[in-house]
Amino acid sequence: MTGAQHFLDLDDAQRPALEALIVRAHAFKKGVPDAGVRLRGRTIVGMFFEPSTRTANSFAVAAQQLGAHWLAFDTGGSSMSKGESIEDTARTIAAIGADAIVVRHQESGFPHALARHFNGAVINAGDGWHAHPTQGVLDAMTLVEELGSLEGRRLVIAGDIRHSRVARSSARAMWLLGARVTLCAPPLLLTLSAPGWGFADLATDLDKCLPTADALMLLRIQKERVDASELPPFEDLTGGYGLTLARMAKLPPHAVIMHPGPVNRGLEIDDSLVTHARSRIERQVQNGVYARMAVLERCLRPLERAAAGRA
Ligand code: CP
Repeated sequence: MTGAQHFLDLDDAQRPALEALIVRAHAFKKGVPDAGVRLRGRTIVGMFFEPSTRTANSFAVAAQQLGAHWLAFDTGGSSMSKGESIEDTARTIAAIGADAIVVRHQESGFPHALARHFNGAVINAGDGWHAHPTQGVLDAMTLVEELGSLEGRRLVIAGDIRHSRVARSSARAMWLLGARVTLCAPPLLLTLSAPGWGFADLATDLDKCLPTADALMLLRIQKERVDASELPPFEDLTGGYGLTLARMAKLPPHAVIMHPGPVNRGLEIDDSLVTHARSRIERQVQNGVYARMAVLERCLRPLERAAAGRA
């Protein structure tokens, strides 16, 4: 299956390619006449080793909207639980006829390992603490929709930066589009090894960040990746950065609130603010379908061109 492109992270992504994906996602949102046949006959396998509501289901809908078959791989019931290797699993999925694998795994780098053995496209739906690139695309799409150009705009990402794959991918996507990104958290929840990943500012006082923010993205504490015994009670941590009504009043009137979900209401964001008029949380989920359509098309269309060339 020559021509398939992987989509593993945004580490080497270039601005024009990201902009093209966002333009295409917006086109899908408005309605592309032949969207329903763009990936007709393709089979996409969803391989989710970690729970997911938004990502798994929006990929499934995106695949179906493009005319592809979506096959949900039963990770618990698969032969990987009997010890089958990544390599043999990848080769087996390819032999079944899959053109792409959308994979989420608790280990950073798992999609990259899978990509070495799969003769098709591998799309990362979140790996460990590392990356969640389609979340980055949909977050950037949502903010572009809101603000137009992101050049010089200020995005504040507040919460558990340290354990978050979303923070890295979304910050990078916004930065590629010209935004200034500030990562704000108590020191225990900031990255220590690569502060700001070389492109973002760090802050520990959210109240000081709010008046100049164009958008504020909250992150939950990634309880599944945290050793709770290393941290103070979560309520004490989120008290320092959780979005309350008082903090909301410090944001400029045009600023919007974002959150990749799932939300821990009352911790990183007040219950009443989740559906506030300036919340774009549901818009992010909605845009996730279109962003993932654009990513699937980009990864799989070369297959169709290659097939047409052989016909
Ligand atoms: N944002 C996100 O990845 O949500 P899910 O875990 O529900 O997919």
